[in-house]
Amino acid sequence: MTDDSESRGGYIQRDRSRHPPAYVSAYKTSVTRSPQKALLSFPTTLSEETGPVFGDSLIGPRDNDLLHNHASDDESAIGPRILVYGQVRDQSGRGLPNTLVEVWQANAGGRYRHQKETYLAPLDPNFGGCGRCLTDARGYYEFRSVMPGPYPWPNGVNDWRPSHIHFSLFGQSFAQRLITQMYFEGDPLIWKCPIVNTIPGRAAIEDLIAALDLNATIPMDTLAYRFDITLRGRRQTWFENRPEGL
Ligand SMILES: [Fe+2]
Repeated sequence: MTDDSESRGGYIQRDRSRHPPAYVSAYKTSVTRSPQKALLSFPTTLSEETGPVFGDSLIGPRDNDLLHNHASDDESAIGPRILVYGQVRDQSGRGLPNTLVEVWQANAGGRYRHQKETYLAPLDPNFGGCGRCLTDARGYYEFRSVMPGPYPWPNGVNDWRPSHIHFSLFGQSFAQRLITQMYFEGDPLIWKCPIVNTIPGRAAIEDLIAALDLNATIPMDTLAYRFDITLRGRRQTWFENRPEGL
């Protein structure tokens, strides 16, 4: 970390003990994907500590409604209807506004709309499987969808992915970029998944499990799950006993 970066409030180093290692033999494709040489660490510079910042003009009115954003008029995707919401915050607990949240997922049968998809579950003509939104002034996001189905994948003899939603977040700069997956409270497949089990420790895995939130359900319509996401925080001078702005 250079002096310049310190004075701009550069970002806190990632805690790599909570992230999966690049190579885990039980996750077959990590063998060829993982780096062959030791990683080098660079201090962040202005380009990683600012931008890109996304504005409202990017977002369409149905972009966070996966029930309808690929559906014909008066139709909707098939499957148990869910609402997923939560707060995006930094390590200081500060909500991050205007942060682009992108999601993609399989349909209720566990099938993706993708050329290379081979699973036999049928496509839903009214479900595309992706959406996006910006966080509001307090860092909250929300989208509606259907519960994604579990699906088998070619890894071990009989491996299944638990129901999950893929997330991509840009944060307020590239230094906060996060790509992860969200799981659903109570799913027994979570603990049997070779990808989940690359994550070191139960506490880190539980951070990726959304909690059923009956208070946020839409009665006679939709179950709700809450998934809060923490991105890296800035190194900053504390104001007396708390970070500025909190
Ligand atoms: Fe997936």
